[in-house]
Amino acid sequence: MNIVIFGPPGAGKGTQSNLIVKKFNLHQLSTGELLRKEIRNNTKLGQKISSIINLGNLVSDNIVGDLIENYIANKIFKNRLIFDGYPRNLKQATYLDILLKKYNQKIDLVLKLSVSLETIKNRILERKSLEKRADDSQEIAIRRYETYENNIKPVIEFYNQSNLLKVVNGEATITEINDEISGLIEGIKGWL
Ligand code: AP5
Ligand code: MG
Repeated sequence: MNIVIFGPPGAGKGTQSNLIVKKFNLHQLSTGELLRKEIRNNTKLGQKISSIINLGNLVSDNIVGDLIENYIANKIFKNRLIFDGYPRNLKQATYLDILLKKYNQKIDLVLKLSVSLETIKNRILERKSLEKRADDSQEIAIRRYETYENNIKPVIEFYNQSNLLKVVNGEATITEINDEISGLIEGIKGWL
């Protein structure tokens, strides 16, 4: 079982992925987290991408593509991945399909978490005080939201065509959303 979860900043991708991986013994692959780790470790890649992330723009498709291939290629994670924040544009969506095919896998479920910009602003503001993420200012959060809006429509169409897309109301409580997602996962035939 491989799952894609996407939605605007603060939609709850990380929160829900975290609950699902524990419940269904999956592995969370957050491209945002992987990129922040590079910045924390001050790697060459980290130095290259920090200004892009802190402006709320997307890192290049090739960079994130290489990062996720490492996980898809790893037998330990075979058919156990939840992609948190990938794909973010059509190019990434088609590349993910290519990569999964290469390693004999596929996507079983795509979850879109929908939330309003008002909710996003409140959640980011709240998290800012807890996690101190460099891109969690009100201004950059709005820019991240715009980046999402500018890129996501063709991704939605892409997954709608393959009948994999389920839209989840991200305004509900964390538990309600988790229950809904768990039901969707359990509804997939042959899930392990
Ligand atoms: P990324 O780390 O993915 O950030 P994001 O998309 O902006 O999303 P967040 O992590 O802010 O929000 P979330 O949806 O995970 O919400 P969370 O669960 O934390 O990406 C960061 C950057 O990396 C991008 O801007 C880009 O530059 C780069 N990047 C990443 N992937 C890339 C890619 N594929 N290609 C190119 N560039 C890429 O929840 C937020 C807060 O709300 C938390 O405090 C949580 O406790 C709370 N909360 C969650 N759910 C609820 C709820 N139901 N009710 C009340 N509160 C809730
Ligand atoms: Mg996140």
